[in-house]
Amino acid sequence: MKFFLDTGNIKDIESLMPLGIVDGVTTNPSLMAKEGGDPRKIIKQICEIVKGPVSAEVVALDADGMIREGRDWAKLDEHIVVKVPFTREGVKAVKTLAADRIKVNVTLCFQAAQALIAAKVGAAYISPFVGRLDDIATDGMGLIQQIVDIYHAFDYKTEVLVASVRGPMHIVEAARMGADVCTCPPAVIEACFKHPLTDIGLEKFLKDWAAATKK
Ligand code: G3P
Repeated sequence: MKFFLDTGNIKDIESLMPLGIVDGVTTNPSLMAKEGGDPRKIIKQICEIVKGPVSAEVVALDADGMIREGRDWAKLDEHIVVKVPFTREGVKAVKTLAADRIKVNVTLCFQAAQALIAAKVGAAYISPFVGRLDDIATDGMGLIQQIVDIYHAFDYKTEVLVASVRGPMHIVEAARMGADVCTCPPAVIEACFKHPLTDIGLEKFLKDWAAATKK
């Protein structure tokens, strides 16, 4: 399973890249707004650091506007994946952008029928938001299982990109279900490095080693 970082923060990306597990980055307008700078410049910089798929989202609501913005994003860097919301206009835009060989990530997916439609029009990725479903007492990971099953049944090449991830258990479940990508906020990656038994075990190993080598 691929790991993407769900952030527009350069410092966080630079600090996690040396782990060797980051395959790409996803952004959205809210994440970019948090950074405060020119989103185009920041996203270009992210592409240069990550050298893997970097999702940049369109903000137009009509298909023509989305296509225009999508083509413009694609010119910025070879690693750009254009993020398009799942709307009627968005679906129209995906078909045209995909025909231009521009990779599209269909975002704001909350039901399996949306994922099926996105795959039919040639999306490179589908982004189901599991955390936001969990937040309203709906089974976010259940949606991932449905999409994985449908894509397997019809051999769709669209990659299942688990988004709106809240913690390490979302990563574990995504991997068990065979999702292609899990995009994680930096804090979720950090949480994978915090386990009391790892800390206690390491402390004991070092103590025993020091005792043994002192003799
Ligand atoms: O980038 C899309 C998605 O991951 C947003 O997550 O935490 O705002 O629900 P969240």
